[in-house]
This record gives sequence, C-alpha cells and structure tokens, in this order.
Amino acid sequence: MKFSLLFVIVLCLSLVYSVVYSVKILPSPVNMTSTSSSLLSDPFLQLPTIDSVRVVWFTEFMSDRSYVKYGSQLEKETDATTTKLSRVREDQDSHVNQEYTQSTVRDIWRHEAIVTGLNPNQRIPYQVVSVKDKEVVSSKPFTLASNPTPDTPLKILLTSDHQLKPMTAANLQKVVETIGRVDAVFFAGDLVNIPDRASEWFDDDRGGAFFPVLQGRANYQLGDTIYQGGEIIQYAPLFTALGNHEVMGQFSPTKSLKDQFYDSIPQSVAKKLYPQEDIKNNSFNTDTYEEIFTLPESQPGGKKYYAVTFGDIRLVVLYVTNMWRSPSTEPDVKGRYQESIRDLDSPENWGYGQHVFEPIGQDSTQYRWLKAELASDAFKQAKYKIVMLHHPPHTLGGNIVPPYTTPQTVIQRNQDGTIQSVKYEYPIEQDYIIRDLIPLLETAGVQLVYYGHSHLWNRFASTSGMQFLESSNVGNTYGAHLGDNKRLVPPKNSNYAEVGNPNGLTPIIPTIAPLQDEMGNNLPYIASNDLTVFSILDTGTGIVSSYRFDIRQPASEIIKFDEFRIIK
Ligand SMILES: [Fe+2]
Ligand SMILES: [Fe+2]
Repeated sequence: MKFSLLFVIVLCLSLVYSVVYSVKILPSPVNMTSTSSSLLSDPFLQLPTIDSVRVVWFTEFMSDRSYVKYGSQLEKETDATTTKLSRVREDQDSHVNQEYTQSTVRDIWRHEAIVTGLNPNQRIPYQVVSVKDKEVVSSKPFTLASNPTPDTPLKILLTSDHQLKPMTAANLQKVVETIGRVDAVFFAGDLVNIPDRASEWFDDDRGGAFFPVLQGRANYQLGDTIYQGGEIIQYAPLFTALGNHEVMGQFSPTKSLKDQFYDSIPQSVAKKLYPQEDIKNNSFNTDTYEEIFTLPESQPGGKKYYAVTFGDIRLVVLYVTNMWRSPSTEPDVKGRYQESIRDLDSPENWGYGQHVFEPIGQDSTQYRWLKAELASDAFKQAKYKIVMLHHPPHTLGGNIVPPYTTPQTVIQRNQDGTIQSVKYEYPIEQDYIIRDLIPLLETAGVQLVYYGHSHLWNRFASTSGMQFLESSNVGNTYGAHLGDNKRLVPPKNSNYAEVGNPNGLTPIIPTIAPLQDEMGNNLPYIASNDLTVFSILDTGTGIVSSYRFDIRQPASEIIKFDEFRIIK
C-alpha cells in the first residue's frame, strides 16, 4: 500500500515536472549515474602567462570539489573555481537524447583552475578531477605548458567557422595526423551556430559539437568513415575572436533559440523601444561565449577585443562582426536590404539590417584602443604582428557584400503617411574596415590579417606586403563568387559587387598545388564541400602553410597546396 502511494506521488511529481519544464517524459531523461560519472568535456587550456596556465572543464553536476592534479607524477593539486553557465538552454531543435518542446534551461557547471609555478618551455602532465557524493570523476592525463619564451619555434593552427559543419571533425583529425601537436589555436570566430544552445558546445548527438571536435571526442560520420576530430586544446591554448554566431539576439522565454539568435537589434534601438527595460536582453549579448572562455582582456573591451603576446607573436583580436541577414529582396523577407512587408508597421519586429555589433570606425572606443595597442612596445617589438577578426576585409565570398557599415535606413511612405517600404543602404565609401581599420593596420606594420566568415580559403596581399588570409573552408563552403556564380544583390547598385573581391586586391593563386577549373586554369581559392582546408603558421620559418584533404577519398594523403611568408 505504501509503495503504491509512493508510486502515485512520484508519477504526479513527474507530470508536474514535465509540464513546468516542457520536457516530454522519456525513460530516464536525466540519468544521475551516467551524468555524474562523466565529465561533460575534456579540459582545455586558456590564458597562458610566463609561469601559469588556466585549465577549464565542464560538468552537468555541481561538484563537491573540482581540482587539477599536475606535476611529473601528478603529485600536486590546485583547486578549481566553479561557476554555472547562466544562459545555456536546449529547445525543440536541439540534437540531444531528450526531447524538448520549447527553450529550456540546461544546468552546466564550469570549473577553472590556475596551474602556477611553471618553468619556461617545460611541459608537464595534468589531469582534472571532479568529485560528487564521493564519486571521483577524472579526465585522462594530458600535458600543459606556460607561455613559450621568445625564439621558441611554434606551430599555430589557424581555423574558423566550425559550426558543427560536416567536415570539421575530419579537418581537425587531419591536423593532428599531419602536424602532430600544435602550440596554440587561433580561431577567427563562428565556433557554433546558436551560442546559447548547450549541446552545440558539448554533446550534439550528430557527433560534431565544438569541444568534441577539438578534443578528439567527436563521432562524426562521413561516408563509411567516422572522424573523432583531434586532441588539440587539451594541450594547446585556444585564442578566439567573436563571430556573428557567438552573438545571441533578444532573450525570450518562449521563442525558439534560433528565432532568438536572429532577433538581435541595435542597442540604440532597444533603448528607444524599451527605455525601462534591460538593454542586453532586448538587443544582443555574448554572455555564453564570455562565460565559457577565459581570454586575455583589454580595457575597455574585456574579452571582446584584446591583445596578447604568445612566444614571438603579438596577436591582436578584434570584435568586428555584424548581424547576418538574408540577401533576398522577396517582399516578406526580413533581410539585409529591407524589412519584411508584413512588419512595416511594427518596428519592434524589424531586424534593422546588418547592424554592426561593436563599432570599429575611427571615432569608436575599439579603434582608439587599437591605435594605442599598435603604438605599444609589446606590439612594435614583436617579431610577428598578427590581427585576427571575423569579418573579411578581402574575399571572393558572399559575406563581404554589402559593405561593412551602419545600415542607412530609407523609409518610403504612402500619401496617407503609412509606410510603403523600409530599405537599407550601405555606402561603400563608408566601409569601416576598408576606410578606417586597414590603413591603421598597414601603417603599424601588421604582417598578417586573419579572418573567416565566408567559408572558403583565399588569400591576398597589399602592395606594402601585408598578407590577408581567410582559411574558413573547414566544415563546409558558402562558395566563391567569380564568373557565373554571382552574389544576390539589389539591381543596379554599384555599392554591391556581384563577383570578385569588391575591395580591390587580387586573389593569389596557391603557390604549390592550386585546384584547376574544367579548362585547366588555376583557381585562386578553395570553396568546396569535398575538400577541407587548414592552415598552420610556423614561427620558426615565418611561413603559413595551407593543406587540403579530400573527404571523398578517406585513405588519400593530405596535400600542402600553398605557402607564403609573413615576414620578409
Ligand atoms: Fe561562419
Ligand atoms: Fe560568420
């Protein structure tokens, strides 16, 4: 009798739980044994200094204690600080072994420990441990090191735009098979697709989430081959730039995460529309990205833009990305060139075009910070001067059109005063990247400008020798716009180039093994869903090498197809 009463109570509580959290009842939706017996991620390295480095990992349980064991015999310990991610959720579009009917908070804890007292250029073993109810959960042992000293030859992986795309796991597996251990990863943004969807970072069941592919724990099938990705960031610090896919739009308790992602509006508009309310929740935010990563910080940019010295490199990372909206000019599209005809009378539903998230124009705070950074001794004395940002200054890709500037709103009205159309224009002479940023970098002697966003490989060089590289044909491509492959642009507007690089520089033919078209002409790009590309900077030689792998032939060799030197 007691047991049947208990059963009824448990059943009722389960039903209440499922209604409140909008979770369909499934067998063991949260299995405490399996959840608490594994870490949600392997550890990864962040923010190396001259004698320390941070170790970060995640669990789905609040541990009683989390710590790092380190030293040649793992004989030392240092406790972690634990925080909870504040915005991560799942929803009906999540690929996880649990069904959701709407956006639902997911509990994930982050642990970070600082390992100090490290000697220069000495690599030591470490292992992370989280304890819950006397159950001890550990990672495998890996190795860590502090910031390398000057003159140490380093191999840096240049990557971007992983976004759980099909070839990403194969790409990173080939990095490790070809190069072995890299010393750091420079990631030019677009880490995932929807930043507040937890599973995109940790455990998307298609096998290609952010951490698994960079930690050799992926499980992504292409044809008959399953790729694990590469054990990379357990050993090598990760430096990232914000891409448009790290920026979450207006918060909603009911809309899908995808709709919230696309729901960003400029902060200035949010202040007018919702003067009494929280600006962040009513415009856009990068909270999840900032909660996951411990990056170098600038004053006043925080983690959003920063500069850091790593070995011989001064790496300057900018927050240069804007809202992506459709190029379509169909009447019902909330796009980059217009508002939807359905929303003309509802400014709260407008998208406000491809608005810029953080100003980089010459009057901006970020520009002034950059100018000071480029004048600093740390920058001027560095052997390698590299700038990383997400948005391309030069590319054959689609996303370079329209120009990178604040959308100019053009409202046409009917005779009765009602709105007939809302359109956006982007004058090419007001492109912040070309007008303001690039001349500043050129004057300061930057050697390499590295970026992503268009999902292809191509590179350029200015007349002074500043090199531009977009190495974002990692997981998929969005194409190269040459010949008949025209960008979708409004008709008869010279601000918007249908083909080619609108900003003037000519794409460079790869120096070793370029691809060719049907006529046998060498192609100055790789834009392919069959070939995945990665690039490595070797600071011993000053050479950036790019490699391609054909996923249609899993047993084929990696081909080094291009190299160029970034110092004279
Ligand atoms: Fe992307
Ligand atoms: Fe992007």
